[in-house]
Amino acid sequence: MLSALLANAFFACSSGPSDTPALSAEAERGRSVYLGNCIACHNIDPAKAGGLGPEVKGSSRELLEARVVTATYPPGYTPKRPSAVMQPLPKLAGDIDALAAYLK
Ligand code: HEC
Repeated sequence: MLSALLANAFFACSSGPSDTPALSAEAERGRSVYLGNCIACHNIDPAKAGGLGPEVKGSSRELLEARVVTATYPPGYTPKRPSAVMQPLPKLAGDIDALAAYLK
């Protein structure tokens, strides 16, 4: 009985997306934007810290818009780093949805 339960738990976990899940078209576009504009400082794997910037996986759309377009933070947000190295990239204002889809 117990082993049946364990086997079930095992299969439930192993069917999850352990490596890279398929990306939506929007997230795929976000990935190109990220690779083209962010990885000079952030890690190519957004879940890890990069050479200059912190990990950005899980960033909300609100945070991305504030940080990327205007180099600010949403009200009440505590930044991961106290520095202000990252320059705003206002040309990416139209790509925030895609970035959020990729980084969520
Ligand atoms: C010139 C290097 C550089 C580039 C290019 C850059 N960043 Fe950053 N980023 C940083 C650094 C350093 C920080 C930490 C705060 C600071 O010093 O500005 C940061 C902070 C952030 C934060 C806030 C993290 C947090 O939760 O506090 C987000 C989100 C972010 N970057 C996203 C991006 C995205 C998305 C791009 C590409 C569109 C990008 N960054 C491009 C260097 C960079």
